[in-house]
Amino acid sequence: MTQHILVEKSEKLLVLTLNRPDKKNALTRAMYATLAAEITNADADPNIRCILIKANGDMFTAGNDLSDFAAISNATGAPKPEDDNPLLPALARSRTPIVAAVNGRAVAVGVTMLLHCDMVYLADDALLIAPFVNLALVPEAGSSLLMPLRIGHVRAFEMFVLGEPVNAEKAVSWGMANRAVPPAELHAAARAAALAIAARAPAAVVATKSLMRDQSVMLARMSEETGHFLRQLKSAEFKETLTAFSERRAPDFSKFG
Ligand code: COA
Repeated sequence: MTQHILVEKSEKLLVLTLNRPDKKNALTRAMYATLAAEITNADADPNIRCILIKANGDMFTAGNDLSDFAAISNATGAPKPEDDNPLLPALARSRTPIVAAVNGRAVAVGVTMLLHCDMVYLADDALLIAPFVNLALVPEAGSSLLMPLRIGHVRAFEMFVLGEPVNAEKAVSWGMANRAVPPAELHAAARAAALAIAARAPAAVVATKSLMRDQSVMLARMSEETGHFLRQLKSAEFKETLTAFSERRAPDFSKFG
């Protein structure tokens, strides 16, 4: 069976590769569970000093697998605890530095997970797209807090509410990424950054990351976002999104008052 997350450990790095290129690396529950477990376990592994997240295929990720969201949307009763995405708290709690290498498009959680990465490399033709409201959803992964802090309210609002794509040049100038490089150089450049982090004094690196982020604030916001997100997944507005995706058309929200 194809492994949708490839896991490799070498040179003090944990390399996690999204490997579902036929579905544009759309992230399933099983993929989230693997990513969450690997990221969490890395904190306790003295042989891992940095995590590198990258993707195979022509894009980083098309975001959450829409069939998984459809299953939650169509299930009877209230959302269940297992409907929560385990990757999000794992990212908030992570003490090991994370470097991301983003090729092609990064959509929705593909963008918001970058807010938890410590260094971000983009292919110079990459596009970051966070179309939560276009899908009748709300921002997650603490991004309703972190994105405005990172790029300012008006830019974040335009990304989340109008789904405006951000190209690599803007993403770097807005502070969402360290640098944009030619696509052919992306993985080598990101790995070099991860190796440079791994060569630094490990306790000093972990303490520095921890001082720079407030886990409890992020986790509290994630939990608030999850409440709104799960309610929206069950809504008629989101059912229109699913129908539109299956019919390969844009959703029509004109009937909702
Ligand atoms: N969930 C599940 N499957 C997805 C997916 C997603 N988020 N995104 C893409 N796929 C699947 C498609 O259904 C298609 O499967 P098929 O070959 O079995 O029909 C395959 O991946 C290729 O996608 P396709 O749409 O043909 O590729 P494209 O290059 O024309 O477009 C995207 C790529 C990302 C622009 C487009 O697939 C898209 O808009 N996906 C949805 C993105 C989204 O809304 N994500 C947010 C979820 S919260």
